Amino acid sequence: MSASATLLRGRTLSFHAEPTGPEDTAAYSYIEDGAILMQDGRITAQGPYAEIAPQAAGAEVVDHRPHLLMPGFIDLHLHFPQVQVVASWGEQLLDWLNTYTFPAEVQFADAGHAERMARGFFDLILGHGTTTAVAFCSVHPTSAEAYFAEAARRNMRMIGGKVMMDRNAPEGLTDTAQQGYDETKALIERWHGKGRASYAISPRFAITSTPAQLEAAGALMREHPEAYVQTHLSENRDEIDFTLSLYPDAPDYLGIYERYGCVGDKTLLGHAIHLEPREIELLADVGGKPVFCPTSNLFLGSGLFDDAGLRGKGIRNGIATDIGAGTSYSMLQTLNEGYKVLQLQNQKLHPLNAFHWITRGNAEVLGQVDQIGTLDVGTEADIVVMDVSATPAMALRAEAASSLSEELFILQMLGDDRAVAEVYVAGEASKPKT
Ligand code: GUN
Ligand code: ZN
Repeated sequence: MSASATLLRGRTLSFHAEPTGPEDTAAYSYIEDGAILMQDGRITAQGPYAEIAPQAAGAEVVDHRPHLLMPGFIDLHLHFPQVQVVASWGEQLLDWLNTYTFPAEVQFADAGHAERMARGFFDLILGHGTTTAVAFCSVHPTSAEAYFAEAARRNMRMIGGKVMMDRNAPEGLTDTAQQGYDETKALIERWHGKGRASYAISPRFAITSTPAQLEAAGALMREHPEAYVQTHLSENRDEIDFTLSLYPDAPDYLGIYERYGCVGDKTLLGHAIHLEPREIELLADVGGKPVFCPTSNLFLGSGLFDDAGLRGKGIRNGIATDIGAGTSYSMLQTLNEGYKVLQLQNQKLHPLNAFHWITRGNAEVLGQVDQIGTLDVGTEADIVVMDVSATPAMALRAEAASSLSEELFILQMLGDDRAVAEVYVAGEASKPKT
């Protein structure tokens, strides 16, 4: 029996394309008195309230005015086992991994710990308005199990995978090439396509994978073209030097993943900051997706992501928090720091492009615009309700705002979980109680 319908009323915003500039009103629909009708987890009608309400007889009506309803946010790169690593002082990437991250991830061998952390992780991302994320789990299948089971309980569209790592890491945090292959294959068979879950084959990075393990990751990618691949690329200068010393025959860092068949249009490459021209050409040719992680790149002192340079080559960039090197679960705060990283390079992140990016833009990177990232009829009803006056600072500033772009920019610069009034997952109100 189908569940009853719910009608949300409020201001609605959804993108049809990436805005070409501040005046590109054709790129989005913004409705002052809008409505979204949801049933069985999907959006069944959307438009002006006066047009939709007559189609919604019998539906429960939730009036969110004056808040702004938009598609749930999408975070394309973060680490589920790093919820207790966020805000760890003092190091850059390689020392940060060895000092803080690896010891925290070792604990995820314990199913009870992984399950407790999964509950906290999902509460956090949902509380910040993120309804889809792509996460690395730890090397232990228990961590992926906890992650997918918790996502399934909440009926969320989530992507993830256990990291494959067979060297340069402490005992208790490595698999072997064969074990990484076998465990990944079993997890793909168990979780990919089950409910709303998708699997991402996850060789951590070239430093922690032997050639044999990258070979195995490439084999998995060929055997499971339906799965995503996620890894890290050219985040930090010392990382790049160490990587190239481990793979002396490689033309460059991306050439290592290329050699083992790990680069395709479903490959998400975290960071991708210090790229050589050949690597950029290769990404453009094969459709690999760099993922910009601004709060992390500033926190670890990694460098400045060249968004415009890559886009200029036709590459589609994602954007993400990179918890726990990232310093906020909020995609709004991620946009805030992203704005500043781009300012330092004389690039501009207009709020229309920013909100396109964390909704439809990231959905496009995933190839899932038919499911998520818009308010289009037929898509899944993952919706965030934003309060532009959530804090005293925001409320005072919003008084002086006279356009949608100004309001969005207030959310982009000042917003965080306090600005998330509600979040719907497949049509169900799901904001965790705090
Ligand atoms: N490179 C390899 N592993 C990691 C990680 O956990 N975080 C970040 N920021 N970079 C990495
Ligand atoms: Zn990462």
